[in-house]
Amino acid sequence: MANKMWGGRFSRNPDAIMEEINASIDFDQHLFRQDIAASKVHVAMLAKQGIIPAHDANRITHGLDTILSEIEQGKFKFERSLEDIHMNVENRLAELIGPVAGRLHTARSRNDQVATDFRLWVRESIDAVDAALASYQRALADRALEHADTLMPGFTHLQPAQPVTLGHHLLAYVEMAERDRGRFRDTRKRLNQSPLGAVALAGTAFPIDRGATSKGLGFDAPMANSIDAVSDRDFALEALSAAAITAVHLSRFAEEIVIWCSPLMGLITLSDRFTTGSSIMPQKRNPDAAELVRAKAGRIIGALQTLLVVMKGLPLAYQKDMQEDKEGTINAFSALMLCVAAMTGMVGDMTPNVDRMRAAASEGYSTATDLADWLVLTLNLPFREAHRMTGQIVAQAAAQKVALHELPLAALQTVEPRITADVFAVLSAENSVRSRASQGGTAPKLVRREATKWLKALAKQGA
Ligand code: ARG
Repeated sequence: MANKMWGGRFSRNPDAIMEEINASIDFDQHLFRQDIAASKVHVAMLAKQGIIPAHDANRITHGLDTILSEIEQGKFKFERSLEDIHMNVENRLAELIGPVAGRLHTARSRNDQVATDFRLWVRESIDAVDAALASYQRALADRALEHADTLMPGFTHLQPAQPVTLGHHLLAYVEMAERDRGRFRDTRKRLNQSPLGAVALAGTAFPIDRGATSKGLGFDAPMANSIDAVSDRDFALEALSAAAITAVHLSRFAEEIVIWCSPLMGLITLSDRFTTGSSIMPQKRNPDAAELVRAKAGRIIGALQTLLVVMKGLPLAYQKDMQEDKEGTINAFSALMLCVAAMTGMVGDMTPNVDRMRAAASEGYSTATDLADWLVLTLNLPFREAHRMTGQIVAQAAAQKVALHELPLAALQTVEPRITADVFAVLSAENSVRSRASQGGTAPKLVRREATKWLKALAKQGA
């Protein structure tokens, strides 16, 4: 028997492989809420415009509500032979209310239907990610305030560079998350136009009201061009771009967590809640959650690549290739939500090893820049000259295997006789961070101010 929905000119069933390659129900069933919501708004508009009788519209609406609760309760049987969520719902509607179900698809095509459903789904996912990122920022800002004074080594090239505070380092991730949220917000603005009513590609002869369906679904306006409306997947590409950049940020932090909690670094510990043991090495405590956040960036970036490649060769308007937009996107967003939640959890869970961090902050001649700055400020030397002298002093310290502040004054004076004992005040890591009070710098008083500013702003957002 041919397909119930479109089989009029067909006399035989599709090949099993045809059915398998054609069906999208395995993943587009995630769109059931959006599909039913859009159908309800569409049918209400059809009745209001006098395109279908009001009592038919009522029966359709009730039928759709029944289907919604069937799916929510796990009682709905999705069928591959019905291809996708749209036809699974419509077929069930016909089972429930009979041939009047057939009126629902008046002045509509699966092309504008799927474009609408998927936009709604991406919009909801963006909102969910935004809320999750706000909680992540909140967790970071809480810990940043708590550790505004905690010294740690700041790295470049993963070499100790200059002492910073842990609070300052954590606030860097708050800024990154804020830009991520901004990208999602921008995406949402452009996304929020309604394709519904574009129908197959050319519009319709029925007197539909696209403004009404757009409004009913919370869109800002109907899309202007029916061909564009059914062929555009920019909203998914933009959302995936924002997701990919977010995933990269989370992955960078996850990588730092992995490095920091290696016993060789020993800067933080994670509790039993976010670590696992080894089945052979009893001493192990592995940061698996951080490693998996780092790894899941791969599939999120991959989903963006996949959709870009799917779209790049497509002529207007709808092509079945576009069905491949959903699986990767749905998978990417569920991975991203999991990653944000795991990072939020680890931020709250981590115990900084404050003593080890403080000691490490002073290792590797990390206050050499402070020494060079002192030579400039006190002896009025050009910075390059001061840099060269400091290099010679570091070389002496390295040769004697001592820290900068452990060198005798006489040793410093072999390089520059005018150096006085005052210099020792700037060689401590505490002094170094306290002095870096330029705008955006690591000084504890600035970190406290920034963390407090963030906590206030996030509390306003309900995070
Ligand atoms: N399952 C399809 C998709 O996700 C729905 C649209 C199908 N349209 C069509 N003309 N066959 O893209």
